[in-house]
Amino acid sequence: MATQPSKSPKILNFSPVRPALRTALPGPNARRILADDARLISPSYTRPYPLVAQRGRGIFLEDVDGNLFFDFAAGIAVCSTGHCHPEVVAAMQAQAAELIHISGTDFYYPQLTELAARLSQIAPMPGPHRVHYCNSGSEAIEAAIKLARYHTKRPSILAFYGGFHGRTMGALSLTCSKAQQRRRFAPLMPGVVHAPFPNLYHRPAGTEPEQYAHDTARFIEDQIFRTELPPEECAAIVVEAFQGEGGYLPAPSAFLQELRHICDRHGILLIVDEVQSGMGRTGKWWAIEHSGVAPDMIAIAKGVASGLPLGVLLTRAYIMDWVPGSHASTFGGNPVAIAAAMATIAILEREGLTNAHEVGEHILARTYDWPQRLPLVGDVRGRGLMIGIEFVADKHTKTPATEQRDHIVEAAFEKGVLFLGCGASSLRLCPPLIVTKAQADVALDILEECIQLVASGKHKRPNWKDKAAS
Ligand SMILES: Cc1ncc(COP(=O)(O)O)c(C=O)c1O
Repeated sequence: MATQPSKSPKILNFSPVRPALRTALPGPNARRILADDARLISPSYTRPYPLVAQRGRGIFLEDVDGNLFFDFAAGIAVCSTGHCHPEVVAAMQAQAAELIHISGTDFYYPQLTELAARLSQIAPMPGPHRVHYCNSGSEAIEAAIKLARYHTKRPSILAFYGGFHGRTMGALSLTCSKAQQRRRFAPLMPGVVHAPFPNLYHRPAGTEPEQYAHDTARFIEDQIFRTELPPEECAAIVVEAFQGEGGYLPAPSAFLQELRHICDRHGILLIVDEVQSGMGRTGKWWAIEHSGVAPDMIAIAKGVASGLPLGVLLTRAYIMDWVPGSHASTFGGNPVAIAAAMATIAILEREGLTNAHEVGEHILARTYDWPQRLPLVGDVRGRGLMIGIEFVADKHTKTPATEQRDHIVEAAFEKGVLFLGCGASSLRLCPPLIVTKAQADVALDILEECIQLVASGKHKRPNWKDKAAS
């Protein structure tokens, strides 16, 4: 018989030093919800394991059966200040009691300009800037595509293999991460060309990282512009400064610097997608800052408002030259979402960026020898709290160990730590930016244990579907 939903807000009262599971997973309440979900919700969602969340505080998540998890996925790198940070909650509550919606498309309100001015202060390129508000990462990319075409009067966009920019039709046309994301949705937006993205771990043997990164960017001018895409028809190059969904791959500085040169030579706009890598995740406000490159536009979403839906396209002011009616969004820049964003920025500035850097260094120091010491681990890479671990079946051929990666993620869930995969066979570490070193140590101990278990063949892969139905 199903038990009642968990009502005791355990995590309000204490910070567990370890995950604390009180039922087998999924628990009885979770199973009931999973059955409803299987009947009612779009089957297109990719759920790696049956976590049914009830409430969150900081890095802790409690499920509907009272099980306590450590959250090292942060709602796909969204809960930058942790779950329900008291300052974010208070800011949202105060704003919700004042004004919830009016629509910046048709009316004015002070929050629009307050957040724009704040983002302008931390932008990775010199001002003046302008801001367009929307509701998601995909929409920020849609706006970027439209504005790039509008401003340059050119039709084409260059993006990269492995890139993920969202799933709406325009954004999907740039996305080139997994074929399933594009399957049966053609024809996509015309005029999009994809170029190789430098993957240092898989670079050809004998090549130097910097030369390889530079040469990968040169391919655009030396090959693509000569054979496929006349540069004067290219409106923009859209790049993730740190590929997320594609496998947690930092773009090397030499690559980004060469992209900037190419853009400057041909009057092309450089658009950086910081939807996942931005808002302090890499220890600086923006991942592109590590390269010293100043982009022309930046797409922002995910961590900007600690979980409220908000997307932002921030550009050099002269570029945003479209006229009234060209583009807008009913909900974009919602006052409650902006209040959450203002509180988020204050918290990240005060403690999040430094903490992301320090705890990220701690994690990298603890895991640097994993490729030598642990089975299946081919590579550990990243900056701040954006760290990828790539699993390979063979350390010489570097064959992706996709099934083993999925199995490790599932085993960690069974032990109370939430991770997410990315790329062919990588796992992403993207906890809230307020995570402590002690919490990171607990999560890493559990991850290491799971890697050993899966590699030894001693752990049986769970069959959630059967459990959900039972
Ligand atoms: C780099 C990047 N761009 C764009 C998107 C799309 O954002 P959303 O899911 O909010 O539309 C994502 C989502 O994962 C992303 O990681």
